[in-house]
Amino acid sequence: MERSRVLVANWFNYPQYYDIAYQAHTRREADFIEAACRKYCPFAPRRFLEPACGSGRLITELAARGYQVTGFDLSQPALTYLRRRVARRLLHAETFEAQMSNFRLGRLVDAAYCTVNTFRHLLTEQAARGHLECVAGSLRSGGIYLLGLHLLPLDTDPEDDARWTQWRGETKVTVTLRMLRTDLRHRLENLRVCLLVRRGSKELRLRHEFQLRTYTARQFRRLLGSVPSLELCNIYDSRYDIEQPFALNDKVAYCVFVLRRRLPR
Ligand SMILES: C[S@@+](CC[C@H](N)C(=O)[O-])C[C@H]1O[C@@H](n2cnc3c(N)ncnc32)[C@H](O)[C@@H]1O
Repeated sequence: MERSRVLVANWFNYPQYYDIAYQAHTRREADFIEAACRKYCPFAPRRFLEPACGSGRLITELAARGYQVTGFDLSQPALTYLRRRVARRLLHAETFEAQMSNFRLGRLVDAAYCTVNTFRHLLTEQAARGHLECVAGSLRSGGIYLLGLHLLPLDTDPEDDARWTQWRGETKVTVTLRMLRTDLRHRLENLRVCLLVRRGSKELRLRHEFQLRTYTARQFRRLLGSVPSLELCNIYDSRYDIEQPFALNDKVAYCVFVLRRRLPR
């Protein structure tokens, strides 16, 4: 096969491949979202919000489970992909273009979630706080927000690449994720994603470099402390076992925080 040229582009604008790359996580995450709502919400949730929903893999899964779902993203190609997908499956989802750090909903939701480090795309403390405040303002009292992100120190060596392959039908997607540099002073991590898509004799190679904000356990706690309308209920790790929360420490890298909109006194 002839080796194709590398396209330098934002891989979130290729949702058909992003979706395949992350498909293995979807069911477990949706099961955990339901389990966390059963455990931490004082009511049975019906309406969900996903900020920065991307291709809508979780939006579609939750809509198929009978929930009302709302999602937004900055990527128009991702939103178009999501809209076509829910329409094809005769489902419904409310979708719109918005910025994670500054959005408003017309109606409050019962629960919200944002996993796989998406929150870390907000590169400043102000943007991160703005996001948490917008989420708190979108939740019913007692509603929960599940926020999944890696804390420092990361469990990977900067020299190590994370590489995985997923298939959908005849399409094979291989993702190689490399951390290029961590700047602890400015709390920024530079990453590179290389995407290799093969379908029959066709091939697409794409490269995307981007930054994420870093958080130690202490920095994350401090940020949470600046948004008093949200309380921390518990923390989970990537096993997604609702029976096994753990105490925040510097050893566990991927954390799922269960935050709750405080009930009025
Ligand atoms: C890692 S993907 C996660 C997508 C989806 N939440 C999921 O779990 O599959 C990150 C998404 O965040 C979106 N994004 C990044 N920065 C954003 C911002 N400031 N506001 C809204 N969306 C943003 C990207 O377009 C991309 O779709």
